[in-house]
Amino acid sequence: MRQARAGGAPARPSHRRAIVHVLSPDEQETRRWGLDEGDEIVPGRHALQRLGGGHRYEAYLAFDDHLHALVVAKLVRPHLAEDEHTLEGLRAEWAMLSRLDHPAILRGFGAVLDGTRPHLVLEHLEGPRLSSLIRRHGPLPPEQLIPLALQLCSALQYMAAEGVVHLDVKPANTIMSGPPRLIDLSVAMTHADAAGLDHSVGTDTYMAPEQCLPHDLGPVGAAADVWGLGATLYRAATGKRPFSKGDPDSPETAVRWPQLVLEADPEPLPPAVAEPVMACLDREPQRRPLAGELTDAFEPVLRSQARPRLSGLKPRWR
Ligand SMILES: Nc1ncnc2c1ncn2[C@@H]1O[C@H](COP(=O)(O)OP(=O)(O)O)[C@@H](O)[C@H]1O
Ligand SMILES: [Mg+2]
Repeated sequence: MRQARAGGAPARPSHRRAIVHVLSPDEQETRRWGLDEGDEIVPGRHALQRLGGGHRYEAYLAFDDHLHALVVAKLVRPHLAEDEHTLEGLRAEWAMLSRLDHPAILRGFGAVLDGTRPHLVLEHLEGPRLSSLIRRHGPLPPEQLIPLALQLCSALQYMAAEGVVHLDVKPANTIMSGPPRLIDLSVAMTHADAAGLDHSVGTDTYMAPEQCLPHDLGPVGAAADVWGLGATLYRAATGKRPFSKGDPDSPETAVRWPQLVLEADPEPLPPAVAEPVMACLDREPQRRPLAGELTDAFEPVLRSQARPRLSGLKPRWR
């Protein structure tokens, strides 16, 4: 078993194909680690509680003896623990985590890149996913929406300056901790790699048109994340997706990705954010604002809101 720690030379992220065997709910049930509270993931790191899982990974709340802290272990599912393609994805995600260091982006503490239970060791974030919050309580009120927008703009501006695209900015990859944080760097890549993409990468409903068809509409770059931000904020502000769900099995690209041909409806958006959010959803990447320009658009909205009382603390940022 090899444990990688921050500071080691990370593997170079490569093009990762979005071809993942989609697990049925039954398969998701059987292809899981089934760890109970106290079970050892690796020596010195114990599972406490299962947090969730996707098609390739399962996330567990865990206790790390060396850090003496709660962490999240993002484990490769058992049937993929020796799958070279999945392990390459894990290495690439760890490389990205090692490269990025920002208050609004999830931090990684380490990785176990081979052995029985390959996994990433991640900072534990308290708070629901934005997607869960919207499902439970509906659209966010402006006093929650604008700070979220500013945090995500800050994360995207930093990533653009670092030469990295996230490619999966969406409510399920946003944790509403204080401050809100962008998670899941599983398909993030450098601008150079993104510009060379020849296949779609991301989550269908939140993908920029050039992410859907990089060959015809690319190159893919930082503007793709600005689209993801716009789609995320649209959902957060209205409770609705900006575009209807397409049919993932359709051979017709416009049926699979309605955003290729439809325009989002600005009507349900609160007037204070309608213009910047719609600008993010411009089909033409060059016409979308930069993350820094969006910050300039959202900041006056924040200033117009009632000031929070911080019991004697004078906020310095106003
Ligand atoms: N650091 C974390 N803190 C809290 N929950 C997390 C963390 N990382 C992941 N999760 C939970 O696990 C789920 C899957 O993690 P994610 O990195 O998005 O993996 P996937 O690539 O499978 O989408 C998330 O949607 C979230 O609910
Ligand atoms: Mg995810």
